[in-house]
Amino acid sequence: MLDQRPFDPARFASVDAMSLAPLLAEGPVAVIHTILAVMAFLLGLVQMALRKGTRRHRMAGYVWLGLMAVVALTSFWIHTIRTFGPFSAIHLLSTLTLIVIVYGIWTARTHRVQAHRRSMIFLFVGALVIAGGFTFLPDRAIHDMFFGASQ
Ligand code: HEM
Repeated sequence: MLDQRPFDPARFASVDAMSLAPLLAEGPVAVIHTILAVMAFLLGLVQMALRKGTRRHRMAGYVWLGLMAVVALTSFWIHTIRTFGPFSAIHLLSTLTLIVIVYGIWTARTHRVQAHRRSMIFLFVGALVIAGGFTFLPDRAIHDMFFGASQ
């Protein structure tokens, strides 16, 4: 049977809406880091799907690597997880990301297609998707944004 009662918002009071508060609480650098990471994820998907070797591929590639570089660099000003002094294991991934960005540009400019392809796949899957996935671990800001803070 259909629920015939009039609509009463109070009945939905226990359903928590997604809140930006946990992310905003991390400060402006984390907000910029997150926005640019999401942009890099979307542009990365497009770049992977489109034809390679074209002028558009080169232009979008430089924009993407620029986004990835700023995502990795801004992470050095975020210190929520403190494993080694103010840094965490994810900062090792940020360092590796910066090295692979330089290697990826070098292999593209010297036309070493297979090495370039591997380095870009590493950046997209190994850095962006995996680091993005880690943000859904309990007690991290993105997790708390979607699922609320753990008690
Ligand atoms: C879609 C992708 C990503 C999202 C949504 C994201 C989001 C965030 C957020 C919200 C924080 C601060 C709050 C917290 O730690 O919970 C953070 C921290 C951090 N992110 Fe990302 N990030 C992404 C990708 C990346 C990538 C690609 C890297 C490195 C290559 C990276 C490296 C880090 C590091 C090192 C920290 C600091 C961890 C700490 O010690 O607290 N993130 N990220």
